[in-house]
Amino acid sequence: MPMWKLSSSSSRRLLNDAKLRHKLGLNYSTTSSNIISSCRAVILPRFGGADVLEIRDNFQLPTDLQSHEVLVRARAVSINPLDTRMRSGYGRSIFGPLLPLILGRDISGEVAAIGGSVRSLNVGQEVFGALHPTAIRGTYADYAILKEEELAPKPPSVTHVEASAIPFAALTAWRALKSTARITEGQRVLVIGGGGAVGLSAIQLAAAVGCHVATTCGSQSVGRVLDAGAEQAIDYTAEDIESAIKGQFDAVLDTIGVSETERVGINFLKRGGHYMTLQGEAASLSDRYGLFVGLPTATAILLKKQCQYRYSHGIEYSWTYMRADSEGLDEIRRLMEAGKLKIPVDKTFPITQVKDAHEAKDKKLIPGKVVLEVD
Ligand SMILES: NC(=O)c1ccc[n+]([C@@H]2O[C@H](COP(=O)([O-])OP(=O)(O)OC[C@H]3O[C@@H](n4cnc5c(N)ncnc54)[C@H](OP(=O)(O)O)[C@@H]3O)[C@@H](O)[C@H]2O)c1
Repeated sequence: MPMWKLSSSSSRRLLNDAKLRHKLGLNYSTTSSNIISSCRAVILPRFGGADVLEIRDNFQLPTDLQSHEVLVRARAVSINPLDTRMRSGYGRSIFGPLLPLILGRDISGEVAAIGGSVRSLNVGQEVFGALHPTAIRGTYADYAILKEEELAPKPPSVTHVEASAIPFAALTAWRALKSTARITEGQRVLVIGGGGAVGLSAIQLAAAVGCHVATTCGSQSVGRVLDAGAEQAIDYTAEDIESAIKGQFDAVLDTIGVSETERVGINFLKRGGHYMTLQGEAASLSDRYGLFVGLPTATAILLKKQCQYRYSHGIEYSWTYMRADSEGLDEIRRLMEAGKLKIPVDKTFPITQVKDAHEAKDKKLIPGKVVLEVD
């Protein structure tokens, strides 16, 4: 059986307590306390529909932990749109040569082992966090490896299922609003598509700063966005959003990112304001033309739009991508602890039913967050 071995004992702090090891499901060798076997994982062997996903019991773990890495025993992993899009082939120019890979960005679980330079986390501690969008070895597995800065202690008042729904979406919103637009108290923020996980996170982050938030969403999300702290909810299925939106904004986060929402978002910005879309074209252009043509083409398009909008509207235009950020994750953790950042989980599936969960998302049978529970 493939084994995962933690190297020098001085550089690793291991879980030696037998009861805790059992609770975490760690499969140590009986002869050597620092050897861990392979684990169960959901594998994407090729791109396609939900039926391509395979559960393997003996997926080989890397032979070693890097000094800044943390081995996490997963308890819950949430499904993000990126997972189903990657499964279908989005990002194939990057991920195609790396198949088979493991999907999944978000995780909540317990620390099973830590690298030698990890200082902020301890073995046995409950943590949550998210991997970078381009990570190949994802979180749909019994064990996942994340960098220390990609994890934070899970607030005890929040369950693993609830915690797993938050980090990827909230870090994306944080990057846009806090890192790029640098929102401050009293500013006006427009969230286009506030009913999704990133939108709800953005509303709550902006409200916590003391911003005035308006948002567009579907009828079924109106209650949720108002509960999250939006002052105005515009139902895009029933209202003309251009006549319903009032006043100008300092920042617009566009989670939909089609040409119509981009036009509306930019027209409602004050001079000096920030328009941020989540639908940057780097991956789609690379998929279409290959990395060597697609990436420079995407850069050229972005630069052209930035110059054009700076000149025509006096605004800053950007494509926002999720990025791990320990400062952001720490603020997200504090807001979760204070009950000020929540993403409702609409349904959970055991990880063994991952195909059903992906199919339900593909067919839009479940509008909100879906979480896979890992027993
Ligand atoms: N660039 C990045 O790094 C990054 C990171 C995270 C996510 N994303 C992308 O950002 C998007 C949102 O992600 P998510 O996790 O928030 O997805 P999600 O939780 O699935 O939410 C999507 C929501 O968008 C709303 N919506 C759809 N069409 C709309 C429209 N015309 N106007 C207003 N709202 C509309 C729907 O809410 P209603 O129920 O209100 O209709 C839907 O629930 C996805 O496309 C995802 O791939 C990108």
